[in-house]
Amino acid sequence: MTYILGIETSCDETAAAVVIDGTTIASNIIASQIDLHAQYGGVFPEAASRAHVEAIGLVVNEAIRDAGIDFSRINAIAVTRGPGLVGSLLVGINYAKGLALASGKPLLGINHLEGHVYSLWLTQPYREVRFPVVVLLVSGGHTELLLMRDHGDYERLGGTLDDAAGEAFDKVGRMLGLPFPGGPNIEQAAMHGNSAAYNFPRALRDDSYNFSFSGLKTAVMREAVVSSSIRRGEKGMQVRSDISVNDIAASFQLAAISVLAEKTARAANEHNATEILLAGGVSANQALRLAIRQSSELPVRYPPLNLCTDNGAMIAAAAFYRMQNGLKDDLFTLDAIPMWPLNNETYMG
Ligand SMILES: Nc1ncnc2c1ncn2[C@@H]1O[C@H](COP(=O)(O)OP(=O)(O)OP(=O)(O)O)[C@@H](O)[C@H]1O
Ligand SMILES: [Mg+2]
Repeated sequence: MTYILGIETSCDETAAAVVIDGTTIASNIIASQIDLHAQYGGVFPEAASRAHVEAIGLVVNEAIRDAGIDFSRINAIAVTRGPGLVGSLLVGINYAKGLALASGKPLLGINHLEGHVYSLWLTQPYREVRFPVVVLLVSGGHTELLLMRDHGDYERLGGTLDDAAGEAFDKVGRMLGLPFPGGPNIEQAAMHGNSAAYNFPRALRDDSYNFSFSGLKTAVMREAVVSSSIRRGEKGMQVRSDISVNDIAASFQLAAISVLAEKTARAANEHNATEILLAGGVSANQALRLAIRQSSELPVRYPPLNLCTDNGAMIAAAAFYRMQNGLKDDLFTLDAIPMWPLNNETYMG
């Protein structure tokens, strides 16, 4: 059995996990900084790096302890190399390098987006994935539609041209005066709202596999926010008193997810996918899950809810298959890659 320690510090979660054979979670520890960043209404990079420094040793130790093993049992160390905030990435990378240097264990630098994809291999009980599959990766910083023909084989079919889906949820959440992060709070508000109350634009209903959310965001702002506070560029914009936040949230959510669902289903059909895989923080959204199930007859797979957002287990799972492809990284040249798209050209880093 192969035990991999996965370390993740690309954004605002300090996370470490031990995964056996790329599919079984032995431990999964996450120290979230959500409360720290809530006061800023978004992730404050300098504060994130400092919080990672404080947490990383404790989190890694806890992951080993919780797995019920001795560190000597670990076969390889995996760490997120990018994309992400460079100061945050470096905390995890340097910690992982220290461990690898001291122990002589192999080190693997993982693309965070590939990590999100491999959260789909951690569904319990494990169900084998038969390629090709179409993956919709919807997170705070990315919206990518990928055709995956094998482990490590990613054709990028399309993606967002402006905001990421999660970013749009977060920005609209802020406009509506909902707590950070906006995504889960919009989903909650939407459950009590009428999604037909507002007819917000569905952008890029074209033949491409691209997405756009900035026009939708602006349309929500025009409808929901007091216009003088927009003109003055106030940070906490004033929500109009005559609107229903729940109706706006429900109508926004429907507009955002319907194009995602339509294009994902079409891509899966066109490429004869066996399954549709949903990953990233926004894949926790039940309305998105339902919309995709309704748009396609193919099976739809999502990560367990606690693995939709950032975690170390997905990094360890991705590393297992990367190792099976004969890859590992050099301790002295492994560095952070703050901008790192996921496709066949960039797979090697
Ligand atoms: N139930 C939900 N509905 C919609 N969005 C959600 C939900 N839960 C979480 N999100 C969104 O998911 C995002 C966080 O996901 P994730 O942790 O994968 O992103 P990230 O790591 O910040 O970005 P990236 O992975 O692109 O670097 C946030 O934008 C959050 O609002
Ligand atoms: Mg992420």
